[in-house]
Amino acid sequence: METAEIARRFLSFFEKNGHTVVPSASLIAEDPTLLLVPAGMVPFKPYFLGQRTPQYSTATSVQKCIRTKDIEEVGKTSRHATFFQMLGNFSFGDYFKERAIPLAWELVTTPVEDGGFGIDPEKLWVTVYLDDDEAAEIWRDKVGVRPERIQRLGMEENYWSMGVPGPCGPCSEIFYDRGPEYGAEGGPAVDDNRYIEIWNLVFMQYERGEGGDKGDFPILGELPKKNIDTGLGLERLAAVLQGVDNIYETDIIGRVLHHAAELTGTRYGDDHDNDVMLRVVADHVRSAVMLVGDGVKPGNEKAGYVLRRILRRSVRNLRLLSGESDTLFLHELTDVSIDAMKDIYPDLLDKAEVIHGVIDAEERNFADTLRAGTALFGRAAERTRAAGGTVFSGADAFQLHDTYGFPIDLTLEMAAEQGLSVDENQFRELMQRQRDTAKADARAKKLGNADISLYARLHEKAGDTDFLGYTDSESESFVRGIVVDGEGVPVARAGQKVEIVLDRTPFYAESGGQLADTGTLTVDGRGVVDVEDVQKPLPGLFVHRGTVRSGEVVLDDSVHAAIDTGRRHAIERSHSATHLIHSALRNALGPSAGQAGSENRPGHL
Ligand code: ALA
Repeated sequence: METAEIARRFLSFFEKNGHTVVPSASLIAEDPTLLLVPAGMVPFKPYFLGQRTPQYSTATSVQKCIRTKDIEEVGKTSRHATFFQMLGNFSFGDYFKERAIPLAWELVTTPVEDGGFGIDPEKLWVTVYLDDDEAAEIWRDKVGVRPERIQRLGMEENYWSMGVPGPCGPCSEIFYDRGPEYGAEGGPAVDDNRYIEIWNLVFMQYERGEGGDKGDFPILGELPKKNIDTGLGLERLAAVLQGVDNIYETDIIGRVLHHAAELTGTRYGDDHDNDVMLRVVADHVRSAVMLVGDGVKPGNEKAGYVLRRILRRSVRNLRLLSGESDTLFLHELTDVSIDAMKDIYPDLLDKAEVIHGVIDAEERNFADTLRAGTALFGRAAERTRAAGGTVFSGADAFQLHDTYGFPIDLTLEMAAEQGLSVDENQFRELMQRQRDTAKADARAKKLGNADISLYARLHEKAGDTDFLGYTDSESESFVRGIVVDGEGVPVARAGQKVEIVLDRTPFYAESGGQLADTGTLTVDGRGVVDVEDVQKPLPGLFVHRGTVRSGEVVLDDSVHAAIDTGRRHAIERSHSATHLIHSALRNALGPSAGQAGSENRPGHL
């Protein structure tokens, strides 16, 4: 049975049983405790918690999900995917265990010709939570499962939560026995490779507090109502119903897998390591398509980093498979993946151009990074081995990061391929040191060489500088402080570098990416100071930094302060142009075109 047909049957079964069909929410979670949606129940969480009232008391959905916690397992097991779809039925205070359990069994075991999935009950096992006698009785007495096929497991297996504070409850799972060739007899309590979980029925009735993922959290109390949340892994069920060994060989993911084999000149099934890499590529390309389709862009943090990491892992595996480092593979594989998914997600066709644009650009970008860093990596790895070591130094990992933009994950993976580990502690120390130095540099740039206590004394004496720059470009001001070489002085003469504090000023001080004004301070008939930069070492205190061009300036002098208005206007034009370009990009690319970290200078933006 095709994957799309499984999804259709699921929704139609629950619709017939009175559930409202709810379309998948975006992968980008609205829930602030999550980056990306990891389970079908996420959009319904406020209903479980009683924070919002749904328009329906029962619902069913096929929800797009991303989980990357086990990314290293992808391709190695039969069932780990970064993107997958969760089929679910939900009850918000409507039915509970007594209906959820028989409904699930009916759909799974009803013959295919009658609209079900047609799985032989002899292949099925179930688990319940340790003390959940109620669920065990329903399985035994209402459904007719033999008692020896009902196993009781603990909190870690049979108690579900989102891994963070929120709704939770004991659960009951349905397992499919893949047969003796996959492992030992004895049910899911004995072997989770032979007996694979296909459907999790969660009896959502409690609220949990802070804690871990595996049952190590406090139960705060009962939810307002008893609810049902179920999750059936679409890809896993497809593997079972299509009689293939693993999810990567099912109709949809399999198309990308075989195309990747063709493109890289390999054959799936010939070599274990290659097979793992092909499965990784098939999984990751699909995840990337779905993430970009939902508006995620590659970046260095949060969901953007998830996407970047997935794309980079795909590229690296494709290079290793093909032995080629100049070929770009992702465009074609993206096409195949979109085509394979379009029956379930027709909107992918409209978004295809944007998806290609983002993925192609990231592949080229990464190719540049790799070209630059791989030689350095190779030399460092060689040096490590030549010295008889197995630990790639944190200093080399840091240099790869600092100079070539290698994320640490990439270095870890490349090192692991060569049987090396990485001194991550040293790497993290160096990263921290760099952050500290950068902070100190920024402070030094702002403060010159002077001690902060000098500015504090000046500030005490002179008070806050009155800022006039929003309305005026010139002012008559008094000199309230003069600093030369980090010392307060009464006078500065031609040629000297100087810092000057005024009682009031039209000069804008650098802040938030906006450059300071430049200009002049003129002492009537006696001297001129060129102002090159203005900083605020302390809130309220403006320090004009520059050079005495001619004559001298003396404490308490009256000066004429004038900013370079041409330059100020040029900065303003750059600033306006930044907004115009951003607006044009948003019109062309959509609201996901964000703007951050701009610097506006005269003639540059
Ligand atoms: N929320 C449950 C799960 O994700 C169904 O397994």
